[in-house]
Amino acid sequence: MPHDDQSTFLFLLAGAREGGNTETLARAAAAHLPTQARQTWLNLRELPLAPFDDIRHAGAGVYPQPEGAEKVLLDATLAADHLVVASPLYWYSVSSSAKLYLDYWSGWLRVPGADFKARMRGKTMWVVTALSSTDQTTADPLIGTLKLSAQYLGMHWGGALLGYANRPGDITADTEALTRAKTFFS
Ligand SMILES: Cc1cc2nc3c(=O)[nH]c(=O)nc-3n(C[C@H](O)[C@H](O)[C@H](O)COP(=O)(O)O)c2cc1C
Repeated sequence: MPHDDQSTFLFLLAGAREGGNTETLARAAAAHLPTQARQTWLNLRELPLAPFDDIRHAGAGVYPQPEGAEKVLLDATLAADHLVVASPLYWYSVSSSAKLYLDYWSGWLRVPGADFKARMRGKTMWVVTALSSTDQTTADPLIGTLKLSAQYLGMHWGGALLGYANRPGDITADTEALTRAKTFFS
């Protein structure tokens, strides 16, 4: 998906350990963004969300104005033109922190004044993931979750960057993934 140089990229780090392969791969791709592109990096481990509360059909079904970590994530999401979910492959899908973030979208759709649905339309979703299987089709559920969620909100699909890794640092040996990273966003 083409993007102009002034675009804002929000990188959501969704791994459950520091210095993971997913982050390394995402940073390798980000290094090739145009210098004018704005990058925001948020680590979901540093922005913990409470368990998601489904109050859609309770009373008015209106969600309160987000505060704290939730507000940081909502504001950064709305400010971004490109949303890059950097989640390791966990049980064939996104990590629990990435999934919880997506669950919050359901609430943000119902936050008065957030205009979430209209403001998400036209943004682009990307995913970067590390997996320890050599069979990349095992990441299809992760890709499907993000692609269909993006589609639900009228977002574009940018693409998926997959890398093979298990222990921290393994990704540096996946030269194919690191080569793909160079042009991932172009
Ligand atoms: C909870 C958990 C579930 C995992 N599930 C899968 C999986 O379904 N398929 C896979 O190939 N690797 C799986 N892995 C391995 C990780 O994807 C792999 O170690 C990856 O390099 C971790 O990324 P990170 O270094 O960014 O943390 C799993 C690891 C954990 C901790």
